[in-house]
Amino acid sequence: MCMPSNRCYKCLRQFRGGNLGTEGVKVPRGLAGGFQDLHFAFRCLYPFLGLSAKYGPVFTIYVGSLRVVVLYGQEAVKEALIDQGDEFSGRGKLALADKLAKGRGIIFSTGERWKQLRRFALTTLRNFGMGKKSVEERIQEEARFLVERLRNTHERPFDPTIPLTHAVSNVICSVVFGDRFDYEDQKFLTLIKLTEGNDELFRSFLAQLYNFFPTLMDYIPGPHQQLIKNAEEFKRFVLARVKMHKESLDLSCPRDFIDAFLIKMEQERQNSQSEFNTDNLVRSTLDLFFAGTGTSSTTLNYALLILLKYPEIEEKVHEEIDHVVGRSRSPCMADRSQMPYTDAVIHEVQRFINLVPLNVPHAVTRDTHFRQYVIPKGTTIFPVLQSVLGDSREFPKPEQFNPGHFLDENGAFRKSDFFIPFSAGKRICVGEALARMELFLLLTTILQNFTLKSRIDPKDIDITPLPSAGISAPKPYQLCVLPR
Ligand code: HEM
Repeated sequence: MCMPSNRCYKCLRQFRGGNLGTEGVKVPRGLAGGFQDLHFAFRCLYPFLGLSAKYGPVFTIYVGSLRVVVLYGQEAVKEALIDQGDEFSGRGKLALADKLAKGRGIIFSTGERWKQLRRFALTTLRNFGMGKKSVEERIQEEARFLVERLRNTHERPFDPTIPLTHAVSNVICSVVFGDRFDYEDQKFLTLIKLTEGNDELFRSFLAQLYNFFPTLMDYIPGPHQQLIKNAEEFKRFVLARVKMHKESLDLSCPRDFIDAFLIKMEQERQNSQSEFNTDNLVRSTLDLFFAGTGTSSTTLNYALLILLKYPEIEEKVHEEIDHVVGRSRSPCMADRSQMPYTDAVIHEVQRFINLVPLNVPHAVTRDTHFRQYVIPKGTTIFPVLQSVLGDSREFPKPEQFNPGHFLDENGAFRKSDFFIPFSAGKRICVGEALARMELFLLLTTILQNFTLKSRIDPKDIDITPLPSAGISAPKPYQLCVLPR
């Protein structure tokens, strides 16, 4: 991350310059050359603070030749995403995402298709009492498998990334495909490998170049080509599952997301405008899988690292778990309201790590009057979540990890309108409810069973994130878990 006093040469070069109005939007002129490397654009969040101090909460930058309007600060982000939610509900264009998703599914679609598929995914995830097991039971089941796996480390140091990724991914598998996989299952491991590979590849420089020069890059070898191949392999995997589901489908009893989608396809067979077709089924399934795996598992991974650094905070969570849940049954969602400290810790983890600092790019769906500006239809928008989660008016000393940010003077949980790690408005994360359940149930089950231990002195533990394009991940670390 570049600090204002320690800017990289690219930032310094690009942040020089004046003010040029275009369609009423302020354009810092020096940026017209644009960020040559999206890596730098994402890593260097501090310059956004600098730019907003100079140009205000609404300003334009260029990423390559792509014009982006940046919204910085709680007021601007809220006014756009909530008060003018319809206009700001489009999805910003990224050539690589276009190539992979072809405008299908939920994350990268817009308009009527997005509305239909999003509404369907939300209702289906909400109704998962579907089949025999509720989502809560599915997560509790997975938490037990995770505990068993952690117990098998026998107090030896290990990197928690893989066990957490497998557990979280299995929750999505259970919701989407109907069942979890064994951690050793080869198909499951291939699926995970493809997901992780994709995360890596998405971050690679050549893959990002694709966004600026798609036609040229189609002819150049590199990791972006692997991404395209991986997408095909994923597609084949999901299509095979869809085939299996079709063969055993019971129209009156959907077992999972795929069943529910197939039933909807059947119901809408006569409707020529329907978006419920196999292509959108495959892509929506992949969307849930991708969006739902790295996000929750990285948050949990980060939570464990932070608790290693602050054993006194872990100790208080242990006490609350012992008091409310005890040791003889699994934690459940009904416990959360009686566990304000643990709830505050999880909120503070999400605020502090700021998982998707810039948000996923939005776009305006029509010419939009916003404050004193007119933003032309299709313009890409960055509603910067970091600028809200890190607002010192709401969270004194935002750079410090402090669960007190979400507690009142009596120790009760304190809600905050500035808590928007899942974004806000019409595009708010489809998996928010699921993710919050996962974070609570998996973390409390781990801490019910284990005390975390680091091989290095807590004060030397580094909790700053890896430099990354889109997601704030912790640097790799080792931990030991001691049975309680
Ligand atoms: C800690 C966990 C998670 C965080 C912090 C998170 C955060 C986000 C953010 C910031 C967005 C972009 C919202 C916007 O465009 O304004 C998003 C979108 C999305 N998320 Fe999540 N997410 C998490 C977990 C999940 C899970 C578990 C699922 C799957 C069930 C999921 C599915 C989605 C989908 C489908 C979208 C696209 C929504 C749309 O375009 O309408 N997410 N998420």
